[in-house]
Amino acid sequence: MDRRISVAVIGGDGIGPEVVATAIPIIEAAAGRHGAAMVWEHLPHGASHYLDTGETLSDNVYEHLRDDVDAIFLGALGDPRVPDNEHARDILLGLRFRLDLYINFRPCTLLHPDLCPLKGRKVGRSESRTVGQSDRLGKEEGPSVLPTVRLSDGEPEGRAIDFVIFRENTEGSYLGRGSSANVGEPDEEHIVEGVHSAPKIERILRAAFEWAAANGKRRVTMSDKANAIPAHRIWGRLLEKVSSEFPQIDSEHRYVDALAMELVRDPERFDVIVTNNLFGDILSDLGAELVGGLGLAASANLHPGRAGLFEPVHGSAPGLAGTGEANPMAAILAGALMLDQLGIEPAADRVREAVVAALAEGATTPDLGGTATTEEVGSWIARHVSGNPSRAIGA
Ligand code: NAD
Ligand code: IPM
Ligand code: MN
Repeated sequence: MDRRISVAVIGGDGIGPEVVATAIPIIEAAAGRHGAAMVWEHLPHGASHYLDTGETLSDNVYEHLRDDVDAIFLGALGDPRVPDNEHARDILLGLRFRLDLYINFRPCTLLHPDLCPLKGRKVGRSESRTVGQSDRLGKEEGPSVLPTVRLSDGEPEGRAIDFVIFRENTEGSYLGRGSSANVGEPDEEHIVEGVHSAPKIERILRAAFEWAAANGKRRVTMSDKANAIPAHRIWGRLLEKVSSEFPQIDSEHRYVDALAMELVRDPERFDVIVTNNLFGDILSDLGAELVGGLGLAASANLHPGRAGLFEPVHGSAPGLAGTGEANPMAAILAGALMLDQLGIEPAADRVREAVVAALAEGATTPDLGGTATTEEVGSWIARHVSGNPSRAIGA
């Protein structure tokens, strides 16, 4: 092995630890085939740890994650025993904010035609990597690049459902600013402030355009709700500025309500969607459902040049925990995004190809219509990644 990669693992709550434990050997096997040795450090953070110790994310742990690891791999956070979700906000949102992981990169690519709830859709394939993204992204700040999403199987004719959401990840309505009055009284009132600042908007817009340009994409769609929330007009003004630097990319605007409608009507027309934190959260679950559901949706929290945080889009699904029905593919695909960002693209491709093969074989959990368990899907994919594919589940 010529490279050692250290990854902090936060399994978290509910199905988080199960899907992460299933994904780890797959990521390790794929990386190993391409000369990289993964070193995993398991952290206990989650609801039980919080209830036992009162710790969400201490400064020491935060500094360790900031300074000492190459990536963070996270399952999910959220537990009915912590009804206000404060541990999840401190740990997950805390890491996104404090590490300034300003890009929440959420690909929505149809991997098998049967997975789309809309009729007659084609499977996706990202366009060429002929433009060297590593030359364009993260150059000033370090070696990291944004993941690309590639499938190497035959390219179908025509447009496919294959878009990426760039969700602003450090402000918007997520900062917890505002005030509450008369809680529990008939006139209870809460004021929730949304923060939209020029530097943060500009950098997420620029990240979206740079990725579009580097990955041969034609269109960037920015979404806000400026007709109802005038402060959102800053997004349009900055869109004009940033898009003028990318004349080869079509730039457009959609109010978020209309975008939600159009994503269902004509998902193939979208390449890159860039939007604020809250709208990105909502649209990414909609996007996930268009390509098979939360069991398949992966995300990367990134700041080019720094260690990223990789996680499924889904939550802790407490009702599924321990049933063996959780789909591990979202976590596995999040692992592929991690391998991409670590610069081991062939390993990432190998993982994605194995997931596509499992989908084609019907080696899937019940959310996708299969009968396999979390572990069986994981073993099937692990064998495929290791070069010993087998057709039957459990064989
Ligand atoms: P959820 O994503 O946990 O579940 C939504 C639905 O999708 C449920 O029906 C669930 O069974 C299904 N689902 C999710 N992941 C699946 C998988 N891998 N395989 C099969 N089915 C899957 O969202 P929720 O129910 O709104 O939230 C549950 C908890 O998770 C809450 O505490 C919430 O705050 C938290 N949450 C955490 C994250 C995160 O850590 N990134 C994300 C979303 C929600
Ligand atoms: C996500 C989740 C989180 C978010 C929650 C758990 C705070 O829904 O990662 O999509 O809203 O960002
Ligand atoms: Mn979400």
